[in-house]
Amino acid sequence: MFAISLGDGAELRPLEPWQAEEFLAHMDRGREYIGQHVGLPDVAADLDSARSWLQSYADKTAADTGRLYGIWLDGLLVGGVLFRVFDAGAGNCEAGCWLEPAAAGRGLVTRAARVIIDWAVQERGMHRVEWLVSSENIPSINVAKRLGMRCDGVLRENSPYRGVRQNTEVWSVLAAEWRSAHSTL
Ligand SMILES: CC(C)(COP(=O)(O)OP(=O)(O)OC[C@H]1O[C@@H](n2cnc3c(N)ncnc32)[C@H](O)[C@@H]1OP(=O)(O)O)[C@@H](O)C(=O)NCCC(=O)NCCS
Repeated sequence: MFAISLGDGAELRPLEPWQAEEFLAHMDRGREYIGQHVGLPDVAADLDSARSWLQSYADKTAADTGRLYGIWLDGLLVGGVLFRVFDAGAGNCEAGCWLEPAAAGRGLVTRAARVIIDWAVQERGMHRVEWLVSSENIPSINVAKRLGMRCDGVLRENSPYRGVRQNTEVWSVLAAEWRSAHSTL
């Protein structure tokens, strides 16, 4: 299967339903850490639900309405990046990410997100890439900043999670901003 090197022994590859067992084992290693602000561990609670979630992204890929890629570090699945929303007609998409704790602090998600955002902007003509994040999730907000995004605003207390209504910050980068920051000329 094809892989894109992220450097330092890390690779970005498609993450597909047939990899459900590997995905579940990864999720079990990171369940508590990953679930601090997002419900991904809850939608991959066991093998059936893990496979269903991967299948939902295979379906999105087929329909061109989303994408999912895993990050492997020295051959171990340690995280991923995705387009939860991908609306090619409107030119808008929403990216997201996660890592198990042992893989955090190395820049892997920033590098992986750059690859998929570059593809979305340069190859697919996306105009706007969004990043929705709880205002409590400082590591993810820092990823958005490293990607050159700006905070558009805050959806106040819009997102109930584990009994608490969280604020959601909407960060984004526009195609022209992305191109001017990543121009090699
Ligand atoms: C959000 C999340 C993926 C961020 O992980 P992260 O490791 O901080 O992000 P990156 O992979 O981009 O790594 C950046 C860190 O590596 C460091 N780093 C080391 N080498 C680096 C490099 N070559 N390039 C960039 N950063 C590098 C950075 O300094 C930064 O560390 P710091 O925040 O202590 O300064 C992680 O906290 C997570 O999985 N959280 C749970 C799931 C989640 O909340 N997902 C987001 C939903 S919106």
